[in-house]
Amino acid sequence: MLLRSLIYKNYRGLNDEAKKLETVNHIIGKNGSGKTSIVEASVMLLNGRSFQGAPIKNLSNKEKRSFRLSGTVQHKKEKTDDISLLFDNGKKLHKLNNKRLGQQQAHKSFPLCLIDTNITQASSGQPNYRRDLLDRAVFHVEPEHVTNHKKLKKCLSQRNKAIIRGEDTRTIQSWDETLAEVGENISKARRGLIKESQENIAMISKELLGKSLSIKYKKGWEEESYLESLKKNISKDMIIKRTSSGPQKDDYLLKTTDNKIKGYYSHGQEKLAAISFMIGLNLAVEKRKKCRSIIIIDEAESGLDVSSTSKLINMLKSLQNQLLITSLPHHNIVNMIRGNILTASQKQREDFDII
Ligand SMILES: Nc1ncnc2c1ncn2[C@@H]1O[C@H](COP(=O)(O)OP(=O)(O)OP(=O)(O)O)[C@@H](O)[C@H]1O
Ligand SMILES: [Mg+2]
Repeated sequence: MLLRSLIYKNYRGLNDEAKKLETVNHIIGKNGSGKTSIVEASVMLLNGRSFQGAPIKNLSNKEKRSFRLSGTVQHKKEKTDDISLLFDNGKKLHKLNNKRLGQQQAHKSFPLCLIDTNITQASSGQPNYRRDLLDRAVFHVEPEHVTNHKKLKKCLSQRNKAIIRGEDTRTIQSWDETLAEVGENISKARRGLIKESQENIAMISKELLGKSLSIKYKKGWEEESYLESLKKNISKDMIIKRTSSGPQKDDYLLKTTDNKIKGYYSHGQEKLAAISFMIGLNLAVEKRKKCRSIIIIDEAESGLDVSSTSKLINMLKSLQNQLLITSLPHHNIVNMIRGNILTASQKQREDFDII
């Protein structure tokens, strides 16, 4: 899958432009020129969401109230898709070949492997950040994962409300069977994808970090089954006034044979470990989907020395996926990437609309 073109109008501070993309793309610009805005626009166009967690209305240029993104995606055998996203009058209209495109379908159709500047949080961040990272990959391959998350949210909230209201045990436990079923499914889907990724993660981390990385998955309950855990912990839940176990407590640890990454490795090493994890996970997604994702890395070289940057870029290029890499304008990285150069620039106040 290749994003062949990206057109943005009134997006963030960016100058309205139509960019042609190749397999290896290098987005260059000084601080504040709009590199992250360009990769955010690509993710927004393909998956319908901002990875920076910004509300959609903040994505229009601050002097405008609407924005438009469009582009063409090429699949193998010359099949192409036209995709567009318009935000106007407070409403988002996402379209694929002129038909409305839902969020779930967008995720399924356009798999992305996004490595943003917070990536070291994959090892040192909060468990909810790690779960989100993993879930984003699972969403690409397990359509029921979205529905299961919605059910989980509803059941947990109802069960917790019953606990807070001081309802009797039977009322609280009326949620347990459904909760246990979706909880087991969510956790199983996450563990399944991790298991399929282990070998690739080990291989890539050996190349980048010099050490093979493994992932230790911890499900959010200690008992054999989630149902058993819910039953066993009911008194505790009533005391602490919330459901204490479940997939909302799942976590995983990035570790090498001798140590955990978190707290034992430098920032640069953590970044390489986190990237190995993300790429390994993506290879498992690709194997299931039988389709290549677009790999997006914001600030590839930041925090890495020349040798690590070179290993990283060589590894990425060897995968042969479409790459969107951003960096500051340095000769070194330009020579390493040798890609299609896209320059980021900001709208000037006196600019006219060009699209
Ligand atoms: N809605 C908006 N309207 C106008 N300008 C905006 C909007 N949102 C962000 N900006 C501006 O866009 C500029 C570019 O931001 P961006 O994060 O894309 O730059 P960058 O090239 O990634 O910088 P860095 O190298 O520091 O990461 C910032 O100066 C920011 O203030
Ligand atoms: Mg940036």
